[in-house]
Amino acid sequence: MRMVDLIEKKRNGQELSTDEIHFIIQGYTDGTIPDYQVSALTMAIYFQGMNDRERADLTMAMVESGDQIDLSEIEGIKVDKHSTGGVGDTTTLVLGPLVAAVGVPVAKMSGRGLGHTGGTIDKLESVSGFHVEIDKNEFIKLVNDNGIAVIGQSGNLTPADKKLYALRDVTATVDSIPLIASSIMSKKIAAGADAICLDVKTGAGAFMKSLDDARELASAMVRIGNNIQRKTMAVISDMSQPLGYAIGNALEVKEAIDTLKGEGPEDLTELCLTLGSHMVYLAKKADSLAQARELLKNAIKNGSALEKFKTFLSAQGGDASVVDNPAKLPQANYIMELAAKESGYVTEIIADEVGTAAMLLGAGRATKESQIDLAVGLVLNKKIGDKVNKGESLVTIHSNFADVQEVKEKLYKSIQLSNEKITPPPLIHEEITK
Ligand code: URA
Ligand code: CA
Repeated sequence: MRMVDLIEKKRNGQELSTDEIHFIIQGYTDGTIPDYQVSALTMAIYFQGMNDRERADLTMAMVESGDQIDLSEIEGIKVDKHSTGGVGDTTTLVLGPLVAAVGVPVAKMSGRGLGHTGGTIDKLESVSGFHVEIDKNEFIKLVNDNGIAVIGQSGNLTPADKKLYALRDVTATVDSIPLIASSIMSKKIAAGADAICLDVKTGAGAFMKSLDDARELASAMVRIGNNIQRKTMAVISDMSQPLGYAIGNALEVKEAIDTLKGEGPEDLTELCLTLGSHMVYLAKKADSLAQARELLKNAIKNGSALEKFKTFLSAQGGDASVVDNPAKLPQANYIMELAAKESGYVTEIIADEVGTAAMLLGAGRATKESQIDLAVGLVLNKKIGDKVNKGESLVTIHSNFADVQEVKEKLYKSIQLSNEKITPPPLIHEEITK
């Protein structure tokens, strides 16, 4: 097989066979096929696309390019949740203990990553003592004993995807649906998921800004999963404004605790119940989505979800007393309010701009080397559709430096007020199961 012939084939709009796709991914991983040829191929895929069979083959070839986590010693169906990423997305912190409380095994491999705030692990590390440096045997034992554990990314998972994603980033080929869908799905499958629940965000704060693009990506991933025998479904949820109120690491842990107590923001609670119902159903712990939702609501009401969160934190060295006493979480030195300059109704809270403001405070990482400040961030006091009086606080700013002028300016620009009330965008746009 010659790579140049395969580039030509795809350039001309023909499909690549299973063997050809494996040849390309193996050769790229071991360095026998150079970057320049793979660049040409990804550009050909960008223009010509891939059919469902090619997408499934590409996903599996990337899964097989490195280590695969074997979770077979954990009883039950391992359902993983994946979010395409948003601003102040606190769902993982809530969903883990929530679905674990009704018997869904949660064996989560998570990362830190770049973004407006840290990743799930950074957030959890705002609980003093909590750590994810556990070995694989301990991880499996914790899931079997407690129903939930989180481990840091280790091993050599999907090296082909790492190389390909970096190459796409500098060759203007990131935004190709077959390449994005196979990239995301390969990582979930390599991490051992039996079934996958996807939260595809749409709106200003999302990777997929338009509903049409979000739908296309969601459907592509659901088809890949179902074609390779991993039951997969996707929820398309709104990310035009941040989710919940809190954007920041310790602040989101506090928000997750509130939500597990049944006192959380309405949108975050609803999204967790929706995604959670699908996870419970995929794990076969309920016969219908309605029954699954009832189980989850009960776990919040009777305190078992909150209890599960405490068990999980202490099992990994964390001080679980923060759950009853959130003041023990890292606290910022300065708490300041962003006062409304006029009265009106909130019509827009541009999620990615608000995310950038949180990052200016130090809540997220711009580069892998940046230090995160776990205490800082933003708490929205208003959401789209709310009425505001002049002088009222729109946002509470938690900062470790006194001069937050730049942050305030950014926030004023991203929050729009008008005299007319508008209906907030729907939280759940669609649910896609095939
Ligand atoms: N996220 C991924 O993991 N892969 C992509 O290709 C795009 C977004
Ligand atoms: Ca939030």
